[in-house]
Formats: sequence, C-alpha cells, structure tokens
Amino acid sequence: MLDLGCGAGDSLATLLAASGPACVTGVDPDATRLAVAADRIRPGTFFVADGSALAFADGAFDVVLLFTVLSSVADDAQRRAIVAETRRVLRPGGGVLLYDFGVNPGGSETRGLSERQARILFDGCAIESRRVTPLPALARRLARSGRPRTWLSRLPVPRTHHLSWITAR
Ligand SMILES: C[S@@+](CC[C@H](N)C(=O)[O-])C[C@H]1O[C@@H](n2cnc3c(N)ncnc32)[C@H](O)[C@@H]1O
Repeated sequence: MLDLGCGAGDSLATLLAASGPACVTGVDPDATRLAVAADRIRPGTFFVADGSALAFADGAFDVVLLFTVLSSVADDAQRRAIVAETRRVLRPGGGVLLYDFGVNPGGSETRGLSERQARILFDGCAIESRRVTPLPALARRLARSGRPRTWLSRLPVPRTHHLSWITAR
C-alpha cells in the first residue's frame, strides 16, 4: 500500500490501528513530517518525494491512499500529474482510496476537491463514493472517550468530505 502525501502519518496510523499490520510505503515532499511518520509507523518504508514524480515501477502497489492530498495542491496541472502517477504505480485490479473535502474550510494553502472534480481527474475509472463527516480527529476523540451518545455526537454535522474507492474499469 502506498500512502501518497502521508505527512506525519496521522491517517495511516489510524487506518493501521483498525486494520492490523500491512506492508506500507509513504511518500511526502515534507521531510520533517515524513520523519515523524517513519518514527511512528513500523514496519514501513518512507521516502521524501513529490507525488507527481514517483520513482516506483509501474504497477508496484495494490492500493494507493490519497488522504486530503489533492486538496493540498492548488495547481490543476500538478493535481493531474499526481493522479497520473497514482494510476501508473497501481497494479491492474488495484484501487485508490481517496478521502477529501469539497468545501474549503478556510486554509489559504488548500483548495477543496469536489466529488465531481475527483471524477474528472479519475476519468474512465469506476468510483464508489459516499459523503462523510469532517472532523475525523473529533470523531476519534469521541470514540476513545467511550461516550458515543454525547450531545456532540447528536449534532447534525455537515457531510463536507467524501470517501471514494476508485478502480480502473
Ligand atoms: C493535509 S496533509 C494530509 C497528510 C496525510 N495524508 C494524512 O491524512 O494524515 C496533506 C499532505 O500532502 C502533502 N503534499 C502536498 N503536495 C504534495 C505533492 N505534490 N506530492 C505529495 N504530497 C504532497 C503535504 O506535504 C501534506 O503532508
């Protein structure tokens, strides 16, 4: 599994805690964040790299994770290059797990990626998508607190994020 734009490994650590060990590789252009990921996720292999130019062979991975990465890239050409590399390093029959938001929460360095934009970027692929709530960190804290019925969990939280499983047709 390749976590493209793994950052400090926050999402990867959460996923692995739920799934159990997996053979994971992470890449991110930010060496400082990547070092944190490498320290906390073992076993794992981590490389400083830009997602638009990956040094992996064609078809090297079963699954590629893109968790709030494309929304961190403002430039359309750069987004397309990352998606092209994602598709190149994915083995035939493999899949992309994409999690992102369509509405910009206000960060100047982010640009929302709507489901529609994701479908355009992954043109020709089969996409199963569902809207999900934002605030994953809050959801995790609530789950850990053992109080799933707190007033917070009953708030109608807008489903501004989408989670998609993307495969080649
Ligand atoms: C919001 S963080 C998400 C980190 C991680 N995916 C997670 O969910 O915990 C976005 C990450 O995308 C990375 N990123 C930005 N541009 C990138 C690019 N061109 N190639 C790969 N990663 C990139 C950033 O360095 C940052 O770590």
